[in-house]
Amino acid sequence: MLVPTEKIWHNGQFIPWNDARIHVLSHVVSYGSSVFEGIRCYATPAGPAIFRVRDHVRRMVDSAKIYRIAVPYTIEQLSGALAELVRVNKMSACYLRPIVLRGYGNMGVFAGENPVEIYLACWEWGRYLGEEALSEGVDVCVSSWNRMAPNTLPALSKAGANYMNSQLIKMEAMANGYDEGIALDPAGYISEGSGENIFVVRDGKAMTPPLAASVLPGITRDSVMRLAEDIGIPVVEANIPREALYIADEVFFTGTAAEITPIRSVDHIQVGSGRRGPAAEALQKEFFAIIEGSKPDRHNWLTAVNAQQPVTAA
Ligand SMILES: Cc1ncc(COP(=O)(O)O)c(C=O)c1O
Repeated sequence: MLVPTEKIWHNGQFIPWNDARIHVLSHVVSYGSSVFEGIRCYATPAGPAIFRVRDHVRRMVDSAKIYRIAVPYTIEQLSGALAELVRVNKMSACYLRPIVLRGYGNMGVFAGENPVEIYLACWEWGRYLGEEALSEGVDVCVSSWNRMAPNTLPALSKAGANYMNSQLIKMEAMANGYDEGIALDPAGYISEGSGENIFVVRDGKAMTPPLAASVLPGITRDSVMRLAEDIGIPVVEANIPREALYIADEVFFTGTAAEITPIRSVDHIQVGSGRRGPAAEALQKEFFAIIEGSKPDRHNWLTAVNAQQPVTAA
């Protein structure tokens, strides 16, 4: 369960956790008009550090732009405010959730005049798919639900509304006893998990679906592609047929919440050795060494929370 922290940032001010409320007739409630982010802050020897905060904030501003939502803060300001949020709440490791939403005003679908509200919250959050998932792997299914077709709900925007589709995928998987579901794109190629990107490894080469396969452009996906290059694992973006999952040596999820989570079975068919494979293990090792501060942050992914300045509205 969610354990409250002291403060939430709202439109430039820190307010008590319990005061971060919206009216039930806010546009977002009826029409799903929000965009958001999920970001992790890690405890490093140099104190708390936020992982790729500017890239996450940039994606949120992009997500808003697709929906013609103007965000009245710069990427630098919001990144600074997120660091301040961690400081104000005296957190070491935590999960950060910035949300941009269309607020209270008109009740029609057109929300041109409704205020845009921005909230930044954080709380403590452990492993998304369970403590053992990182080493043992998870059991997943191919979902009967597809991801959104192109030119319907834009997949490149991390919009609240897209997570109705994610909920269908996740609920079906859980109802059938799996940890997670993998959705196909409208053409039948592999897309992604309900909240994770996916990589498929065979003969030492990794593949991941391209952005055109209705995936979210994951920050962890990008990080893993760079780490793979660093350690000599070739990665290509390619349309991947469903059956590649069943004959893969390794399959793994990537995401802020899931980090790098191996998949040990798909539709009850064992993947590779049935536990974490060597590529996932090598990538985890690099990833965790950087975020835990035991290896240099050679890609400049971490922003130390204690070096940031307070932020004011633009
Ligand atoms: C649908 C979906 N795909 C992929 C991801 C992974 O993205 P990231 O690595 O930026 O967290 C997420 C999580 O945000 C997601 O919700």
